[in-house]
Amino acid sequence: MNSLVILASSRSGGNTARLSQEIAKRLQADFVDLLGLSISYFDYQHRNIADDFIPLMERIVTADFVVFATPVYWYSMSAQLKTFFDRFTDLLTVKKELGRKLRGLPISVIATGTDAELPSDFETQFELIADYLGLVYREPLYCCCADGFNLQQHQQAIQGYLDRISN
Ligand SMILES: Cc1cc2nc3c(=O)[nH]c(=O)nc-3n(C[C@H](O)[C@H](O)[C@H](O)COP(=O)(O)O)c2cc1C
Repeated sequence: MNSLVILASSRSGGNTARLSQEIAKRLQADFVDLLGLSISYFDYQHRNIADDFIPLMERIVTADFVVFATPVYWYSMSAQLKTFFDRFTDLLTVKKELGRKLRGLPISVIATGTDAELPSDFETQFELIADYLGLVYREPLYCCCADGFNLQQHQQAIQGYLDRISN
């Protein structure tokens, strides 16, 4: 499978990075850290059209499966991921052709936080985005990292996630 894991955290070596690198390794997926790219806020005038958003989208539409990795920040996705999703609006306006290529693409979200569970409505935003864009939303993986990311502690959940998405 031609998979892609996209890390959207405020740090490249933190809990979400460690979880997403493990998932990328197990899926033999390519790995992209949004912190290493220049993707600016949505601009109604599209003055940012030459930043790194479109090249990343061109890579995404060639994938068979895309995993978005985010920490839970204030009960929601990270600002990096929200900024990235805001830019999907470019695909409904000036880059429609590219946007159409997203249809049917399976996506999933993996997340870390310190609470025992994901906030109750955390998944809704991704389900709605996927629905709007014609993406296929697959089940998420959440790892509580109250004491930092401990791979051993999450092995079973990671394996369960990999089993679910491969079916
Ligand atoms: C700004 C900020 C907001 C946070 N908000 C939440 C939250 O609402 N729920 C939660 O479970 N954890 C929250 N946390 C904890 C992080 O989600 C948790 O430490 C996560 O594993 C950090 O991932 P990172 O190392 O990729 O940043 C927050 C942390 C920060 C820095």
